[in-house]
Amino acid sequence: MSKPHGGKLINRKINKELLNTKDLSEFEINTNLAEDVLNIANGVFSPLEGFLCKNDLENVIKDKRLADDTPWTIPILLDFDKNDLKEGDSALLVNKEAGVKALLEIEDIFTYDKKTIAKEVYRTTETSHPGVANTYNMKDSFAGGKISLLECKTREYDEYNLTPKETRVLFKEKGWQEIVAFQTRNPPHIGHEYVQKTALTFVDGLFINPIIGKKKSGDFRDDVILKSYDTLMKHYYLKDRAVMSILRTSMKYAGPREAIHHAIMRKNFGCTHFIVGRDHAGVGNYYGPYDAHEIFSEFPDLHIVPIFFRSFSRCTKCGSVVNDKICPHDQKYHINFSGKKIREILSSGKIPPEDMMRKEVAETILEFDDPFVK
Ligand code: ADX
Repeated sequence: MSKPHGGKLINRKINKELLNTKDLSEFEINTNLAEDVLNIANGVFSPLEGFLCKNDLENVIKDKRLADDTPWTIPILLDFDKNDLKEGDSALLVNKEAGVKALLEIEDIFTYDKKTIAKEVYRTTETSHPGVANTYNMKDSFAGGKISLLECKTREYDEYNLTPKETRVLFKEKGWQEIVAFQTRNPPHIGHEYVQKTALTFVDGLFINPIIGKKKSGDFRDDVILKSYDTLMKHYYLKDRAVMSILRTSMKYAGPREAIHHAIMRKNFGCTHFIVGRDHAGVGNYYGPYDAHEIFSEFPDLHIVPIFFRSFSRCTKCGSVVNDKICPHDQKYHINFSGKKIREILSSGKIPPEDMMRKEVAETILEFDDPFVK
């Protein structure tokens, strides 16, 4: 199993009885931020103990590392409207949907040029990029500092939600030493199954870890992703070789930088290997198909092994899923696993061909009236 990123699994949960919070000012935060709070508190974002202060942010932007040189590529920021809060104050962060109540000890209040964040993190300043649009929509001030989680509530899909502490116990119980993680925001098709099973062949266990949370319109709904994986795993995976648990965090669509972030989170869950395919966490044509592979060479100290997959397709001559390293046949024999095409077929109520998607998986998706995010 991997050691947590930065060496120690962070736990920022405290007993609320120990704290008198009645004089603290309350801050309503949105659910994305509440999920950041939970991920900090549960150690998913280890070694972060809170929201980034300006010196860490500057390093993350320029060097893709925290100020202490630990690899970190995605800014975890708390934006807020200017008010009378000062550095040294504490405040209560509250969110109804996640039932989150957390203490924030404000170390730093600062501003930062959002265009620079966009350019460095997303490699574009175009607002048609969803990550850039979200960045520009942030409020103008940021508050950095440690958080402590006082309360959170039980939520839908919690039966699928394991913390890093829990996955580490689970992997130990299963006797897995080497675990490969698979990041996804889609229901599984045959190409996904191919990379997962190919990687699993060389390690002890597979950790399927779909992202549940804010996505862009047209993406598959969370419940559709979960149910379709349940179906796939029931029919086609060994129980003692594959587990699924969700990760509640928003997709950033930051391509290469997000691939590193995805790997770090899975390292914190205990995984030793991480699958990175074509255009990982990409959107539109903002990144080259293998940019998310190349960026790993900047992080020899990451301590989770990336398993790179070239673009897969179905070769009608080979009769199997292939990539350009293993198939000698001409492109004309290759059928791409186009997510768009699969979505179109499913949208018309039809079952995609079985060499694209398992029939049981497609049937599960079609049980939903509208499987897509509005
Ligand atoms: S992602 O945003 O999470 O990357 P998706 O759920 O489609 O989107 O992908 C999950 C993983 O499968 C990623 O590592 C991605 O690079 C990989 N993948 C998806 N489609 C392909 C493909 N056609 N060829 C190779 N890898 C792919």
